[in-house]
Amino acid sequence: MTGISLGVDIVEVRRVGRLVKNPRFVDRVFSLREVAYCRDKKNAAQHFAVRFAAKEAVYKALGQPGVAHKDISVKNDPSGKPRVELSLRLKKFEGRLSLTLSHTAEYAVAVALFQGGADHRSQPRIAKK
Ligand SMILES: CC(C)(COP(=O)(O)OP(=O)(O)OC[C@H]1O[C@@H](n2cnc3c(N)ncnc32)[C@H](O)[C@@H]1OP(=O)(O)O)[C@@H](O)C(=O)NCCC(=O)NCCS
Repeated sequence: MTGISLGVDIVEVRRVGRLVKNPRFVDRVFSLREVAYCRDKKNAAQHFAVRFAAKEAVYKALGQPGVAHKDISVKNDPSGKPRVELSLRLKKFEGRLSLTLSHTAEYAVAVALFQGGADHRSQPRIAKK
């Protein structure tokens, strides 16, 4: 077994649209770059929602406890393809994650794939904050 792990999440755009009206929620969950990316779009709530789904999907794929929303962020390359960025303490996992996103006016969905290596379950746990 190569230690490949998947994570998926689906989010209601309307729910996240309500939550992002609260600046404290936005600050707790999203990076400044993510906020700028979403606010720049016509349908900002959809882009926020899919990023929220992405964080949950990556969390599931990683299978590590003690990970916060802000440890995980989405960066789009010049073609628009999303890439996962992790905080410093999780950096070592970054290159082994893939992410794909899709959204409509109602739902946003994210699928993450983590290539954990020969047996990622035996890897040391992440140090707590
Ligand atoms: C990139 C593309 C696939 C996005 O699809 P869409 O149906 O418009 O939109 P979706 O809601 O499914 O996906 C949007 C997400 O796709 C991701 N995305 C954008 N460009 C991407 C790319 N080049 N590669 C992978 N993912 C991409 C982004 O994460 C985006 O969400 P975000 O802006 O919030 O980060 C589409 O714009 C496109 O280029 N289609 C052409 C497809 C084609 O040529 N098909 C023929 C061969 S099958």
